[in-house]
Amino acid sequence: MSEPKKLFIKTYGCQMNVYDSERMAEAMGAEGYVTTDKVDEADMVLLNTCHIREKASEKLYSDLGRLKPLKAEKPDLKIGVAGCVAQAEGAEIQRRMPLVDLVVGPQAYHRLPQLAKSGVPQVDTDFPEEDKFDHLPERKAKRGPTAFLTVQEGCDKFCAFCVVPYTRGAEVSRPVDRILREARDLVSRGVREITLLGQNVNAYHGEGSGGAWTLARLIRTLAEIDGLDRIRYTTSHPNDMEDDLIAAHGDLPQLMPYLHLPVQSGSDRILKAMNRKHTRDDYFHLVDRIKEARPDLLLSSDFIVGFPGESDKDFEDTMDLIRRVTYGAAFSFKYSARPGTPAAEKAAVEASVADERLQVLQALVTEQQRAAQNGMVGREVGVLYEKAGRLPGQMVGKSDHLHAVHVDDPAGVVGELVRVRITGAVTNSLSAIRIS
Ligand code: SAH
Ligand code: SF4
Ligand code: F3S
Repeated sequence: MSEPKKLFIKTYGCQMNVYDSERMAEAMGAEGYVTTDKVDEADMVLLNTCHIREKASEKLYSDLGRLKPLKAEKPDLKIGVAGCVAQAEGAEIQRRMPLVDLVVGPQAYHRLPQLAKSGVPQVDTDFPEEDKFDHLPERKAKRGPTAFLTVQEGCDKFCAFCVVPYTRGAEVSRPVDRILREARDLVSRGVREITLLGQNVNAYHGEGSGGAWTLARLIRTLAEIDGLDRIRYTTSHPNDMEDDLIAAHGDLPQLMPYLHLPVQSGSDRILKAMNRKHTRDDYFHLVDRIKEARPDLLLSSDFIVGFPGESDKDFEDTMDLIRRVTYGAAFSFKYSARPGTPAAEKAAVEASVADERLQVLQALVTEQQRAAQNGMVGREVGVLYEKAGRLPGQMVGKSDHLHAVHVDDPAGVVGELVRVRITGAVTNSLSAIRIS
């Protein structure tokens, strides 16, 4: 028998890309490809890209440049570009980098095997009529205890800075029965924790029995699956946090006490210019209601600093919001003008000012993150073991609150969900002892 062909995938960007990469690997698996983590031995290299900030996009071109010697050495090497840069730039990628054999967008990757078979350059950035999920191969392999499951794609919100509505297209929710089938199948293959994904996951409104379902109803039904112990979802928009979803945080033990709820800015003026359609007070009120339902819930957010027109006062409002809400974690970015978005037309804040603000904001967030970690010391939480740690006898997993936890447990097994007591906190993780 001949050696199977090897596929190397590099994934940039968000969790939805991580999920898509997995599905693309499976699609190519049905064509006889196995994945490799060594690019030098690959027969096909697939770069699954992100367009969200300029730096993320430019990374693609520097990585493609680095593939030139390999392609020269192995002329049969297939090079593919998938994901959001593929969608945004299409054939331009091949013009700039002729070594690219195929370009495929996030809604068309079920056609990847066909595109890869062609002997001539291919570009597919359609938003096809058919649902790609109906054209992907059944999944077979046994797998680790955690999985992503995309339930909703695209975005209709059109925040003034963001490319996602253009690269991922309009909001579409997958039908309930397909999601339940996929979730049951994942659980039958060893998964105990599922993170439901969507660019606006809490705007989910997929067809189920009796009409459109909310995310909360979907989560309650998923929670009935025997063996599915933990459910998370990301990313949510503040305007779509409906009452039933907040209630689920209060009474559904499977729904983990961690919520990523990006606010972007604490200034009403900037929120308006960003087209976020909520105020800082709306956000405070929402946070209060969520914390009332689940007092120990940890919140995280995304922040953009240096949005066009952001004054010192606007920035101070963001700092004030962070101080009032207090986050368990946060991701912050310097505004990056993206071609085709409304904000890109406006004059940018001076780079040095934006840099300075980013540093100041990140220092506060780091302080809060440490405080949240220190606050866990002495508490009992659940941990799902994902892998063995670096030290002998050590297991690593995520706590209910999504902290990485190292547990000294020589008898521990990957996939076990254990109770631990947190004994210490270091920069990016917690240590713990197992109690049951
Ligand atoms: N759908 C999610 C997040 C999408 S992108 C949401 O609505 O929150 C992830 C994060 O990237 C955003 O929350 C935002 O903080 C950041 N981001 C998006 N566009 C950006 C831009 N042009 N410049 C800087 N950061 C950006
Ligand atoms: Fe982008 Fe806004 Fe949609 Fe999030 S809600 S994906 S930030 S447009
Ligand atoms: Fe990036 Fe596309 Fe995700 S732009 S953040 S990979 S949706």
